[in-house]
Amino acid sequence: MSDRLPLIAGNWKMNLDHLQSIAFVQKLAWTLKDARHDFSTVEVAVFPPFTDLRSVQTLIAADKLELRHGAQDLSAHDSGAYTGEVSGAFLAALDCRYVIVGHSERRTLHGETDEVVASKVAAALRFGLVPIVCVGETADDLETHGPSAVPVAQLRAALEDVAPGSALVVAYEPVWAIGSGQAATPDQAQQVAAALRAVLAERDGAWAAATRILYGGSVKAANIAGFMREPDVDGALVGGASIVVDEFASIVRYQKHVGV
Ligand code: 13P
Repeated sequence: MSDRLPLIAGNWKMNLDHLQSIAFVQKLAWTLKDARHDFSTVEVAVFPPFTDLRSVQTLIAADKLELRHGAQDLSAHDSGAYTGEVSGAFLAALDCRYVIVGHSERRTLHGETDEVVASKVAAALRFGLVPIVCVGETADDLETHGPSAVPVAQLRAALEDVAPGSALVVAYEPVWAIGSGQAATPDQAQQVAAALRAVLAERDGAWAAATRILYGGSVKAANIAGFMREPDVDGALVGGASIVVDEFASIVRYQKHVGV
């Protein structure tokens, strides 16, 4: 067992409006409280749309909830004439701990290159945010290059200018597993997670040992335990199942299913 604190992160994507997000966070907090969830054994973070961050921050602060929150993206720039962009400075001011960077939907739908992802990782770190750096291969990549080559290359590119020891999280999300209902096997996730950890270890062994690596792609309550048994998988980045309170709470409480 590593001493890395497991992280279950819920990426809401473009779901849940203002009122729904407040209701969701309240219900999640009650459900986890009822279940006596111990946040010191599994950290829980939600990633609402930008427009909900302020109300989620307020609710968490007012009710002294142990939930963390973060954003789904940020600008590579700090301030200025970038219409529609959101600076890491603004996210830090809303008490965001984390920010998702380089999600495959940003890479494919919004043309984010490895260079853009690297500049966003740097921007997050400038403002004391912990980037959750997403990498993952498409089905074609898998067939052509095998399981680890593309995620490893993406991670190397994203971290090229990052100082070893920087606080970050890596998320392995195979594109073919996202929203498809067809998750990777725990074995596949472990194999790639180990290769990603080796990328960090090339730079700094202690950094590699301390950094959490998540799996994402069709994670649900029924399959989380298998991933969490793997030595290099330290949590999950959950999409669809993260906006269904009981399902997400059940994922958070995976230890019940693992029997530890
Ligand atoms: P699903 O859990 O819906 O497959 O989405 C995963 C994801 O993209 C999380 O960032």
